[in-house]
Amino acid sequence: MYTNPTVINKVKRPNFAARHKWSMLLISIRLVSMSQYDFRDLFTLQGKTALITGATGILGQHFCHAFAQYGAHVIAVDLDSKKLSTLAESLKKYDIKVGCFPCDVSDREAVRAMVNEAKKLTGFIDILHNNAATKTNDLNGYFQSNSKYSGETWRQVMEVNIDGMFYVAQAVGDVMIENNRGGSIIQTSSIYGIMAPDQRIYKGSRFLDREINGPAVYTASKHAVIGLSKHLATVWAEHKIRVNSLVIGGVESGQNEEFQNRYSDRIPMKRMAHVEDVVGGLIYLSSEASQYTTGHTLVIDGGLSAW
Ligand SMILES: NC(=O)c1ccc[n+]([C@@H]2O[C@H](COP(=O)([O-])OP(=O)(O)OC[C@H]3O[C@@H](n4cnc5c(N)ncnc54)[C@H](O)[C@@H]3O)[C@@H](O)[C@H]2O)c1
Repeated sequence: MYTNPTVINKVKRPNFAARHKWSMLLISIRLVSMSQYDFRDLFTLQGKTALITGATGILGQHFCHAFAQYGAHVIAVDLDSKKLSTLAESLKKYDIKVGCFPCDVSDREAVRAMVNEAKKLTGFIDILHNNAATKTNDLNGYFQSNSKYSGETWRQVMEVNIDGMFYVAQAVGDVMIENNRGGSIIQTSSIYGIMAPDQRIYKGSRFLDREINGPAVYTASKHAVIGLSKHLATVWAEHKIRVNSLVIGGVESGQNEEFQNRYSDRIPMKRMAHVEDVVGGLIYLSSEASQYTTGHTLVIDGGLSAW
């Protein structure tokens, strides 16, 4: 416990014996309060409600389980209601409330309506994990070369990856301000939110049954996520709402061996990421453990950006 010396100076000083008693009392209060403090409680999400977008994706479903395992009620948001139902079924084993909300995050009005319904699950939203991103329904268009990249594909990606992220933050931010109990917003960026892809590693690389690259729109949208997080962090700090970006390096998820080898060669830790590498950072940013952290970019990349 830190006591401001200027406050002590305002108090009339007692005689030596009394002063000695006071300092012994202060020391014992300090020892008792320190020994009673359990720092592990800092990481609990017990009693909190977390809304996550992109909840049924490769990473999103694991993130939902992580929230539930740390005790948070889960509001899962994604496009496909069938996938949401399957996810909800898998979350039944935890002693938490689960709400599923099919919603296109790029539709501002739909997002407002969804958040207004979703907050009724527990009355609060304490954590927002803004995690949805799209490759659109046209993978040929998404992985197209720069010179042939269509404005339509560019806009579709931006509408989800950054416009949609803002719409959800806007609506949930209002709920958090209204609830007046602070909150934590975590926005998923990417290693390509802080650096450009090394296109050399994409030669001979296949994923989703096709050749892939790192499109400019992904790099641009994920850089924008970090700017948005920093901006919201500064304006919402007065409401005790923290906003941080989670930068994730490439996660091993069915890419061909050629890609995995080339990617891993670029990483100081010599491997792609696994979901369990990322969850620790997510829980840290969601919980009171990061209560003095805002506007931060947490990089989980096996050292890729450190070269
Ligand atoms: N997997 C990786 O290697 C990796 C690496 C760095 C960052 N990321 C980021 O992590 C996040 C999750 O990635 P993932 O691998 O689980 O991706 P994913 O494609 O498996 O999941 C994204 C989810 O977002 C949903 N979504 C897309 N458009 C939507 C819309 N308009 N409204 C609502 N939901 C929509 C999709 O349905 C999908 O379930 C993304 O933001 C991604 O950019 C992933």
